[in-house]
Amino acid sequence: MKKNIHSIREKKTKKPLEIKFSRVNLKKRGALALCVFEGRTLTGTAAAVDRKTDGMLTRAIKTSRFKGEKNQTLELLAPAHVSATRILLFGLGRLKDITRTTLQAVGGTFTAKLMFSGERNASMVIDTIEETDLDSASMASNVGFGAKLRSYRFDRYETKTPPDKKPTLEKLTLMLEKPKPAQERYAALEKVAQGVFFTRDMVNEPANILYPEKMVDRARCLEELGVEVEALGAEKMKKLGMGALLGVGKGSAQEPKLLVMQWKGASASIKPVAFVGKGITFDSGGISLKSGSDVWRMKGDMAGAAAVIGAMKALAGRKAKANIVGVAALSENMPSGTAQRPGDIVTSMSGLTIEVLNTDAEGRLVLADALWYTQDRFQPQCMVDLATLTGAKVTALGFEYAGMFSNDDSLASKLMDAGLVEDEKLWRMPLDKAYDKDIESDIADMKNMGAGRAAGAIAAAVFLQRFVNDVPWAHVDMAGNEIVDTARPTVPKGAWGFGVRLLSRLIADNFEQK
Ligand code: BES
Ligand code: MN
Ligand code: ZN
Repeated sequence: MKKNIHSIREKKTKKPLEIKFSRVNLKKRGALALCVFEGRTLTGTAAAVDRKTDGMLTRAIKTSRFKGEKNQTLELLAPAHVSATRILLFGLGRLKDITRTTLQAVGGTFTAKLMFSGERNASMVIDTIEETDLDSASMASNVGFGAKLRSYRFDRYETKTPPDKKPTLEKLTLMLEKPKPAQERYAALEKVAQGVFFTRDMVNEPANILYPEKMVDRARCLEELGVEVEALGAEKMKKLGMGALLGVGKGSAQEPKLLVMQWKGASASIKPVAFVGKGITFDSGGISLKSGSDVWRMKGDMAGAAAVIGAMKALAGRKAKANIVGVAALSENMPSGTAQRPGDIVTSMSGLTIEVLNTDAEGRLVLADALWYTQDRFQPQCMVDLATLTGAKVTALGFEYAGMFSNDDSLASKLMDAGLVEDEKLWRMPLDKAYDKDIESDIADMKNMGAGRAAGAIAAAVFLQRFVNDVPWAHVDMAGNEIVDTARPTVPKGAWGFGVRLLSRLIADNFEQK
């Protein structure tokens, strides 16, 4: 069975973009990108090319609106006296604003611009810039990382791609004085990109193809990286008393699964960091059926779980010196004769009872058991869950930020910082006892929804808090961040892969053994 999965993966992207690092060579054919700072200041190589071509670049800039602003480009096709088929002047913005993420955006935008251009080779010159904290190795590797992330395609189901929809770009070369250290930095970033792609593949996959058992199969691919993978089926979960998770799965023909992954990269005496993901492979709402034309998006309701799996791949791939546990609560939420009904009462593994007033508030139900199980079995030093949990989060924050709730200020600030560095931004929302009354039930320990339309994302968060005991914990409500409708610099339209970079960074900056 494993073999089969690998062949599926290999078939995937018809030709992945190759990212190379080399010394500066202006004789190379193909597209050549040169960088310009805001205010039309040419970087070293651009200035040199300008001199050699009797001011061709400055003349072109003068007759255009190009100012060198961030991600602004000016294209000169087939210029005379150079080997390149085209020169692209690429705006870097203001020197003082340059960060890893702006460089990733440069790489991503450059790639998007050339992917379908007819060009097969492209190169970009990264000159050493004295005035920044970033050395040229980290500049070039981040441009490469952004390029790789943007080059992702989900083309598994394209059997008849029209020629103009086929990507032509095969190779991107980043040219700099010392390519070797850049290449080495990039190697670690590429592992993260592989994790992001693994997640995107799962989120893009439709629910008829990817259901709980198939997600477990994909996670099993991580065994070859040294990740221990187990899956509990319905029988086992019943024995453990996971009535909340099982209740959600009852209406589906597909068996729910609890996926457990372990990466042991540090001494056994160090308590693990645990990640828990919501993995509803399709959320129809259940008997409280969803309506409208957007329900297809609910194939992405497993994005939290997919991010946890992708993060495990990234962490194992780059051999992170940390102990990590990844748990995914996998189920489909479907209406049927065996489905749970509004009003049903279920008993969770913790022993707490829940009145299910709305079967569409299923995410908190599966997470209740997954969180309880994780803290109970692993006693983690801290725990982070990721979930496409509430429409209320989308109402509050839209599609840019994810909402974050935490019972621990230190963990919260670590996550916030990681989000900023990786451009997967979080906004902290209140987790306050005062909201507890919103989830009181008349006949059970709690109900699975809040006070009507008010504070829906918070009601879900205080619900989850009841299942974490006193473990330092953060909940990331990433509803709306799973699929993007318009491309971002490093994310093509479709699955974002949100959370993989966030979790990998959280570990890299805070939890790795020296
Ligand atoms: N999966 C949805 C939340 C969601 C909404 C994810 C939009 C991505 C985009 C979740 O299971 C859900 O249906 N939540 C309900 C809860 C309500 C019934 C209390 C919601 O937010 O409407
Ligand atoms: Mn739902
Ligand atoms: Zn859902």
